[in-house]
Amino acid sequence: MSAVLKTRSAGDRFTAMHLQDLDAVLAIEQVVFTHPWTRGNFADSIAAGYHCRLLRDAQALIGYFVLSVAVGEAHLLNLSVSPTLQRRGYGNELLEEVLRTAKCLGATRLFLEVRPSNHAGRALYQQAGFHRIAVRPAYYPAYGGREDALILERML
Ligand SMILES: CC(C)(COP(=O)(O)OP(=O)(O)OC[C@H]1O[C@@H](n2cnc3c(N)ncnc32)[C@H](O)[C@@H]1OP(=O)(O)O)[C@@H](O)C(=O)NCCC(=O)NCCS
Repeated sequence: MSAVLKTRSAGDRFTAMHLQDLDAVLAIEQVVFTHPWTRGNFADSIAAGYHCRLLRDAQALIGYFVLSVAVGEAHLLNLSVSPTLQRRGYGNELLEEVLRTAKCLGATRLFLEVRPSNHAGRALYQQAGFHRIAVRPAYYPAYGGREDALILERML
């Protein structure tokens, strides 16, 4: 092996999400969410210029996020890890990249919404320093009715 090794930096394993990636993205999305985003939701996010990034290794897509940043505020719209690869630190890795990207783009606050029933998501965000600032009643579709959204915030 060459003695010269490239130093990896944060973000090395992240690539932009393109329309041709959406089959792989939807294969994860449709398994991890009861009410998944559609292909159109992802395509619209890409077209809108949101920061849509993939985390992958040589074998497969590990996860992805969709982040919108405008006038100093960032909104995390989606963050998901392949069901077979969860609990290995990838959620944290994605979130660190979200925080780094939002900060680089000048945001000072990051907001997101999460279902009260999403224990994994809530634990991930709580551990990363997010706190609840509001509840949006009956925001999400749910089986047999609607579910509130918890609005979480973290200063950057
Ligand atoms: C939430 C999600 C992204 C976490 O990804 P992950 O790769 O499993 O997360 P990590 O391995 O980096 O875990 C980070 C922390 O999240 C929390 N966490 C993750 N999964 C958890 C679970 N099933 N139960 C409780 N806490 C959990 C823990 O605090 C964990 O830290 P620990 O391992 O030190 O205990 C993943 O479960 C997922 O994709 N869920 C479906 C999509 C979703 O709900 N996204 C969030 C809302 S947009």
